[in-house]
Amino acid sequence: MKKVYIETYGCQMNVADTEAVFSLLTDAGFGRSLDIDAADVILANTCSVRDNAEQRILGRIEQFNVRKRRHGAVTGILGCMAERMKEELLEKVDIVAGPDSYRSLPAMIEEALHGRPQVNVELSRTETYADIMPVRTDTNGVSAFISIMRGCNNVCSYCVVPYTRGVERSRPFRTIVREACDCVAKGYREVTLLGQNVDSYLDGEVNFAKLLAMVAEACPSTRVRFSTSHPKDISDELLRTMASHPNVCRHIHLPVQSGSNRMLEKMRRRYTREWYMERVAKIRELMPDCAISTDVIAGFCSETEEDHKATLSLFREAGFDSAYMFQYSERPGTLAARNYPDDVPPEVKTARLEEIISLQNRLSLESNRRDIGKTFEVLVEGPSKKGTGQLCGRNSQNKMCVWDDSVHKPGDTVKVRVTGCTQATLLCELSE
Ligand code: SAH
Ligand code: SF4
Ligand code: F3S
Repeated sequence: MKKVYIETYGCQMNVADTEAVFSLLTDAGFGRSLDIDAADVILANTCSVRDNAEQRILGRIEQFNVRKRRHGAVTGILGCMAERMKEELLEKVDIVAGPDSYRSLPAMIEEALHGRPQVNVELSRTETYADIMPVRTDTNGVSAFISIMRGCNNVCSYCVVPYTRGVERSRPFRTIVREACDCVAKGYREVTLLGQNVDSYLDGEVNFAKLLAMVAEACPSTRVRFSTSHPKDISDELLRTMASHPNVCRHIHLPVQSGSNRMLEKMRRRYTREWYMERVAKIRELMPDCAISTDVIAGFCSETEEDHKATLSLFREAGFDSAYMFQYSERPGTLAARNYPDDVPPEVKTARLEEIISLQNRLSLESNRRDIGKTFEVLVEGPSKKGTGQLCGRNSQNKMCVWDDSVHKPGDTVKVRVTGCTQATLLCELSE
């Protein structure tokens, strides 16, 4: 049996895709290898969202090739970089497979094993891998990702995803509910529904709010999370559905990208700062205990000091619980790359990013300090990274908690009381 090793980069959708790929490969008679040196086939499932992500992966491919020369393995690139760079990558690997081509991967691998390089980067309007029961690759057995849609129809001007992932497709709701129930049967205690813009999910009459209710009701003792919400589309119906289902976690990832209306317009986000802040207010009104996290881009084309200050002030106003923060990286082929010069000097981008990060660090610490003394239900994920005799897990708000514990095991739900915090973690004790 030929064994396949896959390294996964990029977003959670890629994690879900790697699981679908393993399912397809297992059905075709391949085995999975966790050891790169024991593998006959070495694959990277890749991300193109920023240039540094791509550079890191290309560096790693060089290491794959060292192993390939030593052991005679076949190498390949899957996912977004395969889609963006296409045949060009054949200089580096034997297989180039875009995100909609995974059903042909077993045959491609067979061909490559016989010395014939393979490329399939065709995008599909319909492929959702709906019928595939993923082979879970996470190690804790507690939390599973479920892909509910593919692609993206928003053309945010900076973003390569619509080009690498193609048009938006929603997966039939019945297959999603079935997969969630299957996760529960296998012992998972948390499922995360994934899409680039979950709020535009639509299968017949079933929108995202209805889908969320169905999943939450089909798995009443399982936590349900979702990502990513788009500020222009997140609806009151969705917020009310969350509020009325206690097993839907109190956390919304709501990427803002910028606090300046001029930048938002240029980014083609199709909302304003005022709209965004109204959505935040609505979330807080309906679910006062809901955490909000965000993504932001520093130094987008023509961004001025004033635009940047608007981002900082929005961060203060919104009081985000956490954030993913990036400097703008021009992606070939996007609207921004074609229409606007990437004119903010690198050192200015870096300085602005650092300013946002240090502000957010303060906001995260403040958010965590407000939790001191509170009691939370936490789903145990496993041993904490640092402490011996300590476990870690997240509360409903997606905050990482650690506490001394020699009794519980991954998958248990425990009550903890917050006694202290860092900017990244709630330090807790078992409360009963
Ligand atoms: N679908 C999600 C985001 C997917 S990409 C959404 O619409 O919010 C994840 C994050 O990467 C984005 O939110 C954005 O902050 C960042 N990103 C995307 N393209 C980028 C680029 N060209 N340069 C820097 N950051 C980028
Ligand atoms: Fe990219 Fe915008 Fe689609 Fe998100 S919504 S994936 S940022 S184009
Ligand atoms: Fe990256 Fe593709 Fe996800 S570009 S962020 S892996 S959709």
